[in-house]
Amino acid sequence: MALNLSTTCESCKDENGSPPPPSFKEIISTHPTENGWKVFQHLCFYQGFWCFPLHLKGAMFAQHHFKAQATDVFLCSAPKTGNTWLKALSVAIVTRNDNSNNNLLLNKVPHECIMFLEKDLIKNPTAQSDEGRLPLVATHLPYTALPKSILHSGCKMVYICRDPKDAFVSLWHFARGIKINNNPDLPIDVAFELYSQGKSNFGPYWDHVLGYWKASQENPEKVHFMRYENLLTDTISEVKRLAECLGYPFSFEEEKQGSVEKLVNLCSLQNLSSLEINKNGKYGDAERGINNNVYFRKGKIGDWMNYLTPEMGEKLDNIMEEKLSGSGFTFREPN
Ligand code: A3P
Repeated sequence: MALNLSTTCESCKDENGSPPPPSFKEIISTHPTENGWKVFQHLCFYQGFWCFPLHLKGAMFAQHHFKAQATDVFLCSAPKTGNTWLKALSVAIVTRNDNSNNNLLLNKVPHECIMFLEKDLIKNPTAQSDEGRLPLVATHLPYTALPKSILHSGCKMVYICRDPKDAFVSLWHFARGIKINNNPDLPIDVAFELYSQGKSNFGPYWDHVLGYWKASQENPEKVHFMRYENLLTDTISEVKRLAECLGYPFSFEEEKQGSVEKLVNLCSLQNLSSLEINKNGKYGDAERGINNNVYFRKGKIGDWMNYLTPEMGEKLDNIMEEKLSGSGFTFREPN
């Protein structure tokens, strides 16, 4: 697909409809763009990753202004790899003995419970120093694009990744769920080509995974690397490990009383998707907000087989395998 290098476009306007500041405009105008996903903005390639201008602007703001607290834990992920679940579990873990916050998940979509670095900070820069905020911050930024203050403060990070085929199918559904202007649905094979070329929000996906994988190998006490598939198949053990990493381990008493199981049930797809706030609520501003229900779909391993041919699956597996080769990490099942 040809790159569109035109200077400005309607979708570069921010959420209030105002044109972006010149410096940002310049950046957008001099970097490759890709409009193939036809959602609400084009993608722009900057600092080695593809990103919607709206998020890029927030990311650049965070790179300059975010001051991490040493107690913060960053929940990092590429889109559609399980970050809603990771947020819900983390919120439930850190608030489980906090009377003022323990109903959060009943009243807010998990995304609204914690600060989303590249989305929320630019709207409310003082939120980072709010006394009452939870010690959790979410981001889709690749490791190499994180604000330096996160790396320098020695904060912990949790990264979740997912089989690329399921992550892609999930993303394709999501893109259909959030597109505007009644654009026709993007054919899955067109979206697949873009994804296979690395052109997806915060992609290439392989670089995203690789960045955090390497960091977790270099600094295992600081970067906890998780897989969505393991969280699905071995939920209790994974959640206990997550609680330890967040600095809120379950006590022996809590385990005996079934607190882990209770928390897992609270955060299950079935439970969260049945809550009124997640069935009918909206995330973000009233006009352009996203219906919360699009964050909850099937949550299954292998759903890709219902949408992609075996050849497409093999193609994506091969690309990932090649890109991850030598790293010690693979998505392929052992034979
Ligand atoms: P599917 O589209 O395959 O169903 P993200 O949260 O990063 O956007 O990822 C979205 C995927 O996580 C979706 O996958 C969604 O159904 C699944 N998901 C959302 N909440 C979940 C939960 N509580 N438990 C398990 N999976 C969940």
